[in-house]
Parts: sequence; structure tokens; C-alpha cells
Amino acid sequence: MNPNHTAAATGPFAAQQPDWPDPDALRSVADELATLPALVAAEECDRLRERLAAVARGEALLLQGGDCAESLAEVGPDTTTAKYRTLTLMAAVISEAAELPVVRLGRIAGQFAKPRSNPTELHEGIELPSYRGDMVNSPAFTAAARTPDPNRLRRVYDASAETLGHLSELTAADGGEFWTSHEALVLEYERALCRTTAAGRYASSGHLLWIGERTRQPDSAHVDFAARVRNPIAVKLGPSSTPDDTLRLIDRLDPDREPGRLTFISRMGAGTVRDTLPDLVAKVAASGAEVAWICDPVHGNTVSSPTGHKTRRLDDVLNEIKGFLEVHRSLGTHPGGFHLELTGDHVTECVGGTYEVRFEDLPNRYETVCDPRLNLGQSLDVAFALAAMYTASPVADRGTTWAAA
Ligand code: PEP
Ligand code: CO
Repeated sequence: MNPNHTAAATGPFAAQQPDWPDPDALRSVADELATLPALVAAEECDRLRERLAAVARGEALLLQGGDCAESLAEVGPDTTTAKYRTLTLMAAVISEAAELPVVRLGRIAGQFAKPRSNPTELHEGIELPSYRGDMVNSPAFTAAARTPDPNRLRRVYDASAETLGHLSELTAADGGEFWTSHEALVLEYERALCRTTAAGRYASSGHLLWIGERTRQPDSAHVDFAARVRNPIAVKLGPSSTPDDTLRLIDRLDPDREPGRLTFISRMGAGTVRDTLPDLVAKVAASGAEVAWICDPVHGNTVSSPTGHKTRRLDDVLNEIKGFLEVHRSLGTHPGGFHLELTGDHVTECVGGTYEVRFEDLPNRYETVCDPRLNLGQSLDVAFALAAMYTASPVADRGTTWAAA
């Protein structure tokens, strides 16, 4: 039985929760997690909130990126270093061009749970629960692999601790700051890792937590959870977002109008961003709230290749970025940064780029367990395109010169 089916009596409805087969086993893992050390410290979350306040004021940019879903089997110094280096290179290129500091934020050390459009998957007459990320089950299409296993929550905690250790070695070596983030999706995990300090209650699973497109209803359990912690919070806003819901999210998540507390991640799709985003940004600006706006140019641009691979075209990614910048520049608001799915490896999951990946190349190194990621070369293509867009005159006056970058 899914314990959330009974949640209506005790609190708001939690969508996208696994159907844990054994609530007692889940409870005992959650009780154990509650006794373990915080993964990140409250003071670090506060410092990130200060950095994001600078983004909201237009004095800095945010670069958030990493895997769609981390894989427990791949956690280790090599994958961490590859993602860290990719984000660091991109941040350096963008910072130089925009003449602004860039806040580096990984989708890392906790990004192990995925929302799904369908709770089950059907193959050759067999129906099994969908893969929901390594925090919940495993991608192989067998009943055993797809059964949600609460022991995975503990494995995710250990893997996240290990990655945080690698990240602190990397930041010690380059002297910079690097922050962690993930989607706050599996509420049993997130609640078990909340810690109360003198400064208030914090989620200790990562520095910034975001709420995804499928769980962002202002009265959802996920928004309720985020409203009760002091961490910086981000919310994805897709094309169906209304100004009314967006303003309600501000009231729920940032009642004190604290710059740096709330970031909106626009993920509209290249074809619609110029139509759907202006009204939201204008109404939020008119409300007086000081939020940061960043652009996720990947989740609204997922397509199927002729080979049946889930992929994204780099041209669409760049087009959505360009639209996002146009909208902010025409309104006089700050295009505060970018959210990308990327890896530091030479995978072939997205198409396009200077070292072009074509549809027929996708099977060569298609390794993601969830959405397609930009490879190292494609990530740097995005960084150089962004550098051109942030240099000198506003993008609207630059015609299409960015496309040649
Ligand atoms: C994601 O970030 O991997 C994701 C599922 O995004 P969204 O909630 O925007 O669809
Ligand atoms: Co994704």
C-alpha cells in the first residue's frame, strides 16, 4: 500500500511518490536516516542564499547543471571531476564575457529520483512500475529491479556523502565555491534528512532543492515541504504555468520576500518561450518580489530520433536560451542563469554541436539512465554561445551572430 494514499487526512497530496511495498521497511530506513549527520550544513545553505540574492539583483549569474539522474554505480571521483570541470569551464567562459561572477551549482550529490509521466511501463504484454531513479528502483525491466526498495534511500545518502567529499577536495584545490542541488521529490527521504538548527529547519540533503514541473501546484505536498525549510528553493515553470499560480508560489515559498530564497526555472520549449514567459516575468516583477530567473532550455525540447532515442537538438537549446534573453531584455529584467543536463564525458545523447553528433551517431555512446545530456563539447558550445550573447550589446541587437559562435 502506498502510504501517500492516506495522506489526504494528514496533509496535502503528494504526487509522484513510489508505491513502497513494505511501509515498515520504509519507516525503519527513514528512522535511521534521521539519526545520521547532515549532508550539508545550514550555514552553507545560507551562504548560497546570499549568492542567489546577488543573482536576483542582477549582480551575478547562476549555472546549474549535471545528470538528469545520477547513477549509484557511477558515483566516484571520475564522474564527479568530469562534471565539476565542465561546469567550471563553462562558468569561466560565461563570467569573462558577462563580466559577472558565476555561481556554480551541480545537479549532483542527491539527484537520484525522477518524476514519471506514467506510473507503469508496458513491454510485450508485461506491465511493471516505471523506473523512478536509483533512489527508488533500478532501470532493468524485471519485476525485482522495478520494485521500490527503501534500502536505496540509505545507499543514496552514502553515495551523496561520498560525492560531497570529492567536491570538497576539488573546491579546496581551486579555491572556489561549488554548491549541490537536486529535485526534492521523494518526501520520505527529504523529511528524514531535515535538521533543526538555531537558525531554523533545513533540508540537509543538498544546498538548493527544486520542485519539478509535475509537483509545483501551490497546494502540493512538495511546495508545503519546501515552505517549511530555510534552504534556497527553485521551482520549474513549464508552458502551462499561470501568473496566478506563480504569484501564489511566491506567497507560499517566499512570504518575507527574501532575495535569494526563490529561483524560478523557466522550461518552456524553444517554440513557446517567447509567448509564455513575458507575462509571467512581467507580473512577478510588478508584484515587487525579488526572485532569480533562470532558463532550463532542455526539458521543453526533448524529441524522439528516427532510431527511437530520446534526444535534444543543440539548435533548439540555443534557440530557447536566445528567447529567454530576448524576453528579459525587452522587460528590463535580469536573465539570471541557466540549468542544463550535461556530463563531462563524450556521450552521444543530444544531436548537433561543433563536433557534430548526428541522429545515426546516437547509439554509439548513449549512456543516460533518464534524459539525454549534453556532452563536454556541446556544453562548451553552449558556454561560448552564451558568452557571445552576454558580450557588449543586448542580444536583440545582435541579430543571429550568436549562432555562429
Ligand atoms: C528534470 O529536471 O530532470 C525534470 C524532470 O524536469 P521538469 O520537472 O522540468 O520536467
Ligand atoms: Co531530466
